[in-house]
Amino acid sequence: MKNIVIFGAPGSGKGTQSDKMIAKFGLEHISTGDVLRSEMKNGTELGKTAKGYIDNGQLIPDELMVSILAGVYDSFGKEHKGVIFDGFPRTIPQAEALKQMLSERGHQVSAMIELDVPEEELMKRLVLRGQQSGRSDDNEETIKKRLGVYHSQTAPLIEWYRREGIHHHIDGLGELDRIFGDISAVIEAL
Ligand code: AP5
Ligand code: MG
Repeated sequence: MKNIVIFGAPGSGKGTQSDKMIAKFGLEHISTGDVLRSEMKNGTELGKTAKGYIDNGQLIPDELMVSILAGVYDSFGKEHKGVIFDGFPRTIPQAEALKQMLSERGHQVSAMIELDVPEEELMKRLVLRGQQSGRSDDNEETIKKRLGVYHSQTAPLIEWYRREGIHHHIDGLGELDRIFGDISAVIEAL
């Protein structure tokens, strides 16, 4: 079983590369952002709570995220080939909770793959997507807040996973296929 954390700032390509990883390796996929957006679309209580945070570029509280995550993970059953965690963990308490949740099931994270992309490029990609997608958090003001939250709360996970001995750095700027080749090499070597 290969459980992979695909990691990076907003706009670094986590979702884009996850789609390729699903197709090539037959992995399951949890995008916490997609889960929350679907709840928002359906107007659930969780969606209403999430909207306040997302539209302001802030993170949803850890306890709430962790409980959602365990439920989605268990919905894949016991026979899966592994899960891609996209957008989770985003804080050190979330990383600790993930480690604990997996170890209670006799599993673990096999690799954390960091997509490293310069800030000007992130801004460019997200502003462009905002013009097309209608994602409520893809406007310049909210993107700036998301990047600030990334630096203060999420980036420390790079060092956390380095200490776990499973951090892999990938240059996330450039051709999609070159980036995917680099990701594939990491997964194949596991
Ligand atoms: P989430 O949905 O996870 O958003 P994000 O991390 O801000 O990242 P994005 O989905 O915007 O970018 P991505 O890295 O997936 O890049 P993509 O492939 O789309 O989270 C949204 C919000 O939900 C958070 O702000 C928070 O409020 C909440 N949330 C989610 N998880 C949470 C958690 N664990 N705890 C607390 N709160 C949580 O690519 C971006 C664009 O670039 C696309 O248009 C794509 O086509 C383009 N692109 C991709 N690769 C390339 C390339 N190589 N060259 C050129 N363009 C490219
Ligand atoms: Mg995404």
